[in-house]
Amino acid sequence: MELKNRVIIITGAAQRVGKAIAARLAEDSPKLVIHYNRSVVSARKFVRELQGKNVEAVALQADLADPFQIRRLVAQTVDRFGTVDVLINNAAVFYRTPFPDISEHDWEKFMRVNLRAPFLLSREVSKIMLEKGNGKIINIADVGGIRPWANFIPYSVSKAGLIMLTQALAKALAPKVTVNAVAPGPVLLPENYTDEQKAISSEQTLLKRVGNLRDVTEAIYFLLAGSDFMTGAVIPVDGGRAIL
Ligand SMILES: NC(=O)c1ccc[n+]([C@@H]2O[C@H](COP(=O)([O-])OP(=O)(O)OC[C@H]3O[C@@H](n4cnc5c(N)ncnc54)[C@H](OP(=O)(O)O)[C@@H]3O)[C@@H](O)[C@H]2O)c1
Repeated sequence: MELKNRVIIITGAAQRVGKAIAARLAEDSPKLVIHYNRSVVSARKFVRELQGKNVEAVALQADLADPFQIRRLVAQTVDRFGTVDVLINNAAVFYRTPFPDISEHDWEKFMRVNLRAPFLLSREVSKIMLEKGNGKIINIADVGGIRPWANFIPYSVSKAGLIMLTQALAKALAPKVTVNAVAPGPVLLPENYTDEQKAISSEQTLLKRVGNLRDVTEAIYFLLAGSDFMTGAVIPVDGGRAIL
């Protein structure tokens, strides 16, 4: 798919991985929706930077735990740009939840943001995509959705669900709309990680290092612009972590 002038929603795109995805896709002059929840200052600054490079971009806020705000995000996108061609479900919550001290609140939060939101967003945009006959959805999963992580059970389960959602939606939306996932390993570690945690993250890959943002953004770019013959695929970008 040629990306020029395509309308692309990227959730959680004000910073970190989502921002890197948006910056990479911006090279092909699409129309970008930079979704954010709390990072209003970063989102607006990033949109100004994109506009300074002649990329059409808008920052739209939504708490993705709330189905109403999800519908509003898609409606505002259509108001602004007329359609949706690509949805990238990147936003997520991630924190340690050692078992058994996990509350129902934690469980709900992971499921709402990491799993239900991609489902509801996909439902909303797929109506538009099916009507016009094409579209692409990319879910950002995690190697933790392939391997079980005892200290991150709700996160792991939400990402495993996202992988199944990818495959099930690929079937439901074929042949008009493709749905794929990228499952990163450690590429951009949480800012509060200690040196010891960083060392463990490197040690837990076959390549004995942490990846970089470009590894992930290039996989996404390939799914969008490089091949139109992939659907239901889950691409690990994890230095071999999934098979260690
Ligand atoms: N970083 C890695 O190495 C790595 C590895 C494997 C998988 N991943 C996956 O890659 C994606 C991006 O990773 P990341 O490290 O960049 O993520 P992150 O910084 O932890 O979170 C990305 C964004 O998610 C948004 N978000 C969180 N809760 C939200 C809510 N209730 N409503 C709307 N947005 C919400 C936040 O937006 P605001 O800041 O605007 O509130 C945040 O900026 C995630 O899906 C993650 O699971 C990352």
